[in-house]
Amino acid sequence: MNLKTSYKGRVLSGMRPTGPLHIGHLFGALSNWKKLQDEGYQCFYMIADWHALSTEYQNPSEIKNYILEIALDFLSCGLDHEKSVIFIQSKVKEHAELNLVLSMIVPVSWLERNPVYKEQVQELKEKDLTTHGFLGYPVLQAADILVYRAEYVPIGVDQLPHLELTREIVRRFNYFYGNYFPEPKEILGQTPKIPGIDGRKMSKSYGNAIFLKDSDDEILSKVSKMFTDQKRLYRKDPGHPDECAVFAYRKLVSENYMEIKQKCLNAEIGCVECKKQMGQDLIEYLRPLKEKRKTLSESPEKVWGFLLNGSEKASSVAKQTMKDVKKLIGLEF
Ligand code: TRP
Repeated sequence: MNLKTSYKGRVLSGMRPTGPLHIGHLFGALSNWKKLQDEGYQCFYMIADWHALSTEYQNPSEIKNYILEIALDFLSCGLDHEKSVIFIQSKVKEHAELNLVLSMIVPVSWLERNPVYKEQVQELKEKDLTTHGFLGYPVLQAADILVYRAEYVPIGVDQLPHLELTREIVRRFNYFYGNYFPEPKEILGQTPKIPGIDGRKMSKSYGNAIFLKDSDDEILSKVSKMFTDQKRLYRKDPGHPDECAVFAYRKLVSENYMEIKQKCLNAEIGCVECKKQMGQDLIEYLRPLKEKRKTLSESPEKVWGFLLNGSEKASSVAKQTMKDVKKLIGLEF
């Protein structure tokens, strides 16, 4: 990839290696990332291991393994290490360096009022998140984006407070030292969130996720346990597809979903049969992706090679930014 060629704009996003990715990530984030890549944006996709450390610091032994798992997920979902820069955050030291510089100008009150922080400290009670690093999580995230001077950040709505904070940091930096960083804009995915098998938001910690690495049998068994239309008590009752988790999946994986919708509305198909069909369609949908994942997982050293290579490309951009930043602050020697 030639970093100097013309492009539509620079994109950065990242995921934390804290577990295997599930189909919520595929439909919610990765499909959007791939689209941006294929539409000619210059994309930087990062595996945010330092961010993972902010919550997993007491038990970090799994992070390395998850980096590889996530890389396999990225690549099998169609992210291309030749079109996009796919890299590991901790292999690009400039993230830490810019984080330090930004942390000098960010008022603590901005971080303490961050709704994501307040919520996480409350929710993840089993972890002690009252650390300096966790409070500063969004500053590191701002550094991730700004070290590439990225213009666009594909994220979910849950990350909007962090992006707003990044923009505030940009304004403060630019006010102090001169107009240098662009204010990054979010790109929200088009697909509504798909529910987990129990109807709640899909999440590894809820135990309701279908993972990209699940076998066909695991998928069928999970799908068979899915909650369907709560209002449909008998097979002869007409269904409410728009309120049904299974139908939310069918819209994504079943080509004939409009036909199924009519059948459901007319009580011409039952929920058990519908789940079986959907399970098969999901398996078919994931098949090419899984084949690619399997091939790649047979040569992990090749995948690590892609990541290290991507990290070098990322470094070359990040180094230039830090050079400029030091000059702007007056710490260039
Ligand atoms: N905080 C993000 C999440 O939990 C991950 C992340 C880290 C990120 N750095 C980023 C996302 C920079 C976008 C841009 O999902």
